[in-house]
Amino acid sequence: MTRESAQPIRGPQVSEDTWVEVLRSVDQTYQELVEHQVELEERNAELEGIRAFMASVLGAMTDVLLVCGPEGQILEVNRAFLQLSGQPREAVRGIQLVELFDPSERDALRRDLHVLRGGGVVATVERQLCVAAGTTPLDLSATARRDKRGRFIGAVLIGRPVGELRRAYKEMEASHRALKEAQTQLVRSEKLASLGRLLAGVAHELNNPISFVYGNAHALERYTAKFETYFERVEAGASRDDLMALRQELKLDRAVRQLRSAVSGALEGAERVRDIVESLRRLSAEGTGQIETFDLAETSKIAAQWVIKGRSADVPLTVQAEDAVLARGRPGHIQQVVMNLIQNALDAMEGVAQPCIALSVRGEGERAVLEVGDCGPGVPEDVSLRIFDPFFTTKPVGKGTGLGLSISYKIVEENDGTLSVANRPEGGAVFRLTLPLGDA
Ligand SMILES: Nc1ncnc2c1ncn2[C@@H]1O[C@H](COP(=O)(O)OP(=O)(O)O)[C@@H](O)[C@H]1O
Ligand SMILES: [Mg+2]
Repeated sequence: MTRESAQPIRGPQVSEDTWVEVLRSVDQTYQELVEHQVELEERNAELEGIRAFMASVLGAMTDVLLVCGPEGQILEVNRAFLQLSGQPREAVRGIQLVELFDPSERDALRRDLHVLRGGGVVATVERQLCVAAGTTPLDLSATARRDKRGRFIGAVLIGRPVGELRRAYKEMEASHRALKEAQTQLVRSEKLASLGRLLAGVAHELNNPISFVYGNAHALERYTAKFETYFERVEAGASRDDLMALRQELKLDRAVRQLRSAVSGALEGAERVRDIVESLRRLSAEGTGQIETFDLAETSKIAAQWVIKGRSADVPLTVQAEDAVLARGRPGHIQQVVMNLIQNALDAMEGVAQPCIALSVRGEGERAVLEVGDCGPGVPEDVSLRIFDPFFTTKPVGKGTGLGLSISYKIVEENDGTLSVANRPEGGAVFRLTLPLGDA
């Protein structure tokens, strides 16, 4: 600073009022500045809030979001995109949108952008997005961005990753398949159990006629030996008296009489065996799983008889049936269900003084109806609510699995049938099975 500038200012005299005026003016300007600043800060905070809100919305989106400029260059992407593509944000900003997609899709994408620019609409289609491990499918939709004057300033693309969905779907399908397999397995083991019960019945049943055949065959062998001795003597030219004596001694007259009954006895036993085998053959033929028209009364009667025989239970079985009620379904499966119902009925009637099982078959409208009733204690209400649930059993461990009825229910459903339980007015439970009527 020079000496000169330190001199007092010479000029027109400035009054005190003027100074006050100037100071007030400065003050006001300052005040206005402060207000402006506050307003600016408020606006800023508001903008910041909007920005954070937008960022949180975009960040929370699980769909991929791509924003591009008028020439197709990427302006912004959301977190879902970065996660899916595995690229950092800086790497994608500014590059061409089409380069993010599989080369085979790029022309189509360029066409889409062209259509949007011209004011047209593009359909949502599946496009392959490039990712680290090749490509992943996106269900992609695109909309034009326009400024206030309606000029095209770019596009917004939203892509739903369908790969994840597909994978989830595949997983679901796989577990569904596993469940189905497990169910088939269960049905099979339940079937094996029924087969075991059946086999016990078969063994018991065959024992009788076979011992019959065996005993009579033994008798025949003895008679044969006697006749051989007699004929040897005839051939050797024995005298009439000698032969008479021998005939007495060998009791040949009685042997001749008994020969007939031994043969017919053996035949009877053999026929019984044949019948058993025949009914077994039918049982196994009906296990082929073909849907067919079958005689519901006959099929359920055979199944019931075998289970009762298998348990060596002395339980009277009554069958009340309208003439040949034909049902439609897989007779082998229905037989398995009936065997389960009879098995349960026998279990329920253990210790009951006068057990009974009553089968009743009739047609009701479009349905063939089978009722399996017993003289047991019946089903209490709390049990009836859960009776078809898997693993529900009131029997001790080792005796009941709780699977019989749930599997039966499933089987009946698969045969377009229904299965329900009630109590008989005269006491005891009654299971009601309906199936579609078969064609005559
Ligand atoms: N005829 C019946 N009378 C009374 N209760 C029955 C009858 N049938 C089934 N139940 C009840 O239903 C339960 C479930 O039967 P089920 O599914 O066949 O399994 P489980 O026979 O292995 O117990 C039985 O434990 C029993 O309590
Ligand atoms: Mg059972």
